[in-house]
Amino acid sequence: MKVLGILGTPHTGGNTVLLLDAVLKGAEAAGAEVEKVPLAGLDLNFCVACGRCYSKGGCGFDDDTELLKAKMMEADGIVLAAPNWMLSVPAQMKALMDRCSLHVHTFLFTGKYGAAVATAGGSGEEGVAEYMNEWMRICGAQTVGIAAAKAAGVGAIMDQEAQVAKAVDLGRDLVAAISEKREYPDQAAAHAEFSERMKALVMHMAEKAPFQYDYWEKMGWL
Ligand SMILES: Cc1cc2nc3c(=O)[nH]c(=O)nc-3n(C[C@H](O)[C@H](O)[C@H](O)COP(=O)(O)O)c2cc1C
Repeated sequence: MKVLGILGTPHTGGNTVLLLDAVLKGAEAAGAEVEKVPLAGLDLNFCVACGRCYSKGGCGFDDDTELLKAKMMEADGIVLAAPNWMLSVPAQMKALMDRCSLHVHTFLFTGKYGAAVATAGGSGEEGVAEYMNEWMRICGAQTVGIAAAKAAGVGAIMDQEAQVAKAVDLGRDLVAAISEKREYPDQAAAHAEFSERMKALVMHMAEKAPFQYDYWEKMGWL
């Protein structure tokens, strides 16, 4: 079982990574093979909304985002970690999400489980973590929870010991969810509703976007 952690902050020794490492430590202790990838220094182009992924199934860019997409597809569990930057995730994390539009249109994370980690200087850490989890859910994953903490400065997570312990537990729970193929009825209901809207979109775009239409047909979702 593979658990992939993606770190969306340039501080590779900052607050968010401390909690991400704790989640991965919990996952590893529970038996997963873990990998951490910092987005810092990677070559990540912004989505240009060309629609190629919907029509042909591939992206026009051949950059590190494509490697990250492959790593996410290989993983059973994905942990997204980011600080609150201006009430949201840093642009590098958002760039990765935007480049995964096809993942949303074809629910490529189906069968995977996710968890999210966020920190903030003052507020908004839970909202940022929930946002990343919601993104994984619209890609088809189910999410197990968040680890979110405030920090008075770099290297100063408040109530650090307790926050790290909670993050370790989250990692363990992620592995448990994957092992037992846990079902979350509220998430399944939200997915069913979202799927109806996506189906209408996919049918409407059928001529312009044959790849995603064929994918839905092949999956028996139409
Ligand atoms: C560009 C930037 C924007 C930020 N915006 C916010 C914000 O809107 N709200 C907040 O509470 N903290 C904000 N912060 C503080 C970070 O969220 C906080 O220091 C975080 O713990 C840093 O995590 P890191 O060390 O993993 O990068 C911001 C920091 C930076 C550099």
